[in-house]
Amino acid sequence: MLPLFTPFQIKNLKIRNRIVMPPMALDIATEDGAVSHKIIEHYRARTRDVGMIIVEHSYINPIGKAHPCQLGIYDDSLIPGLEILAAEIKKYGVTVGIQISHAGARALDTPSGPSSVQSKYLKRFGGKEKTSYRVLPKKLEHEDLKEIAIDFARAARRAQKAGFDFVEIHGAHGYLLNQFYSPLTNFRHDEYGGSLERRLTFPLEVVKRVRRAVGKDYPVFYRLGADDRLPDGNTLQDSITAAQALEAVGVDCIDLSGGISGYIKKGEEGFFTYMAETIRPYVNIPLIVTGGIKTGAKANEIIESGKADLVGVGRALLQDKDWAYKERLKLEGKSEEKLDEELEEKLDESKSCPKETCESDSLYMDDLVEELEISH
Ligand SMILES: Cc1cc2nc3c(=O)[nH]c(=O)nc-3n(C[C@H](O)[C@H](O)[C@H](O)COP(=O)(O)O)c2cc1C
Repeated sequence: MLPLFTPFQIKNLKIRNRIVMPPMALDIATEDGAVSHKIIEHYRARTRDVGMIIVEHSYINPIGKAHPCQLGIYDDSLIPGLEILAAEIKKYGVTVGIQISHAGARALDTPSGPSSVQSKYLKRFGGKEKTSYRVLPKKLEHEDLKEIAIDFARAARRAQKAGFDFVEIHGAHGYLLNQFYSPLTNFRHDEYGGSLERRLTFPLEVVKRVRRAVGKDYPVFYRLGADDRLPDGNTLQDSITAAQALEAVGVDCIDLSGGISGYIKKGEEGFFTYMAETIRPYVNIPLIVTGGIKTGAKANEIIESGKADLVGVGRALLQDKDWAYKERLKLEGKSEEKLDEELEEKLDESKSCPKETCESDSLYMDDLVEELEISH
């Protein structure tokens, strides 16, 4: 069997293959952050031959909301909708987790962060930083940090209650935990800022709270912004320390990404693979790597080389919901006829899909992808 399609296990989680749909928010929840029909249809459509789906970043409290129709996980009343979403994805044999996040200084209306500094590196939804330039983020005090850590923990419990197989803490892409970790956005002089160890204090406190809330057996992932890719920012060397510290406090899998102000890099397929390659010898927990992967051949090569344990495929899956299926057929050397035949069957199956949902699925996608690329 091709390495890409071999099963993998994290704690008690059995994942059927190594392809991960990474978190990708499309701003299609309700204004209150509840699961919508569009969301369910969007994920359901992408379950074919994918091993794991990490549902998009969901805000843990209203202060940390990043965009108007972001998915939320800040209140127990949202659990029933999340339960339906998790169950729908699991029905197709896919392992499913959800990413929990606080936008910090990138929040839609209420920016807050480690320091009260307007950072040119942090973009807010809809270019809000331009119109509200003078609104400095509120500096978070110790009491606020405690509350936020508790909100993360509560959100993680909700994910668990809703039936998600695991929870992922968002520590990348310029969101709050990345803001604490990065010297470009953290100018504090207390125990939460200064040295690398201190900048890691708050992210680690959040992980510890989450771990306590979900118990020792529930898998907790961490999306690490492992390389700011900017002068004076965090380097991959710093992230070796960060990855080891995350493992030490009970993170079960590190989902690697980077770029405090943009996670897309033009260039070769698998542009963040170097992160996994560097960190791999220093930790024992599994690594996911995402970035620019467009072909099954590249994904397979990354797994075969042992550089990462799982590969994230984002935009390629947004653009073609059957990406994993088609790439599998190609890798297995299935004939064009076979491909057509199987696709024909798929089309027949999809005739049962209500017209309205299918149409809206393709309509919103093109419009939103461009705008949201810089926003999560
Ligand atoms: C529309 C869109 C929304 C995204 N939302 C999130 C998100 O909610 N959380 C996150 O960690 N990354 C988010 N990302 C980043 C992706 O998870 C991924 O890291 C990035 O797209 C690079 O992978 P790719 O080249 O395979 O697309 C988003 C990306 C896109 C394109």
